[in-house]
Amino acid sequence: LQTTALEALQGLETLGQLGDWKVQYLGKKGELTGMLRGMGALSAEERPVVGALVNDVRAALEAAYEEKEALLKKAEREKRLAEESVDVTLPGRAVKLGSEHPLNIVIRDIEDIFLGLGFQVADGPEVEYDYYNFEAMNVPKNHPARDMQDTFYINEDVLMRTQTSPMQARVLRATAEKAKAEGRQHPDPVRVIVPGRVYRRDDDDATHSHAFMQIEGLVVDRGIRMSDLKGTLLMFARQIFGPEVEIRMRPSYFPFTEPSTEVDVTCFNCGGSGCRTCKQTGWIEILGAGMVHPYVLEEQGYDSEEFTGFAFGMGVERVAMRRYGIEDIRHFYQNDVRLMSHFKSRM
Ligand code: PHE
Repeated sequence: LQTTALEALQGLETLGQLGDWKVQYLGKKGELTGMLRGMGALSAEERPVVGALVNDVRAALEAAYEEKEALLKKAEREKRLAEESVDVTLPGRAVKLGSEHPLNIVIRDIEDIFLGLGFQVADGPEVEYDYYNFEAMNVPKNHPARDMQDTFYINEDVLMRTQTSPMQARVLRATAEKAKAEGRQHPDPVRVIVPGRVYRRDDDDATHSHAFMQIEGLVVDRGIRMSDLKGTLLMFARQIFGPEVEIRMRPSYFPFTEPSTEVDVTCFNCGGSGCRTCKQTGWIEILGAGMVHPYVLEEQGYDSEEFTGFAFGMGVERVAMRRYGIEDIRHFYQNDVRLMSHFKSRM
């Protein structure tokens, strides 16, 4: 028995198997215990001899068991250490950074371009007086031009601004008041852009949103001409879209500019030859502009005999769509990370 048991012990590989072995040979129902129970059948002379023998065997097996147990425990510990060791040469795990929203990238790039031309950046309220949004912009109450921009009204006098143009009046007024306070006859010239959100009662679709971003531009000085407007916009378009881009100005109507124009840039998809994106025209509209109406200047305290100016208002989403080839305005508001993650911030 001792020989078979020790041979079996040799072959064991895990602590689990060792436990089974212990039950089989040393346990209460094990083979040695069985032998001790069978001693009742022996004679009085045989009993001490067999008893001593069984005890020797038990001692030998127990000693072997303990030795083997220590060995297996050590082996298992070493195996675990090997498995759990840290490979310090593995590359680190990349931390996922967020990305800047494409509209913010475009707004900042546009700001940079105009800052380089000596413009200032201003911002104004999204909840605006009817006076600044319409009346100061030469759109009196009940004027048909109000239909051009369906409006969210807060009350009779207050609304969600439908355009950033009210900031033309606010900036002119502030500048004129400063000159008046300082006792000067004429206010300072103005060169400013105003990015901001505007609101229209529109049904949302691929090209319309009830809330969108505009950037207003306003230049008022002595001797400002329409060619200054065109040169500024062409330079702007080539910086933001690329040096090959052309612009075209179509006659249009805005109550606060005269003459007025809508400005297109060559299509991002076909480069101007005509495709589905630009409805075969080759052009994509990005802004409205014109020479500041004398009414707007006079209303805020500028002498329209002394000063002239140009203004423009561009749709930021349109610029971003043209720049990135995005065909549905709603992509800007859904914030799907699969799209947004393409716009890595360059901070
Ligand atoms: N405010 C006009 C619009 O939202 C755009 C514009 C701004 C036109 C400035 C002329 C001058 O449609």
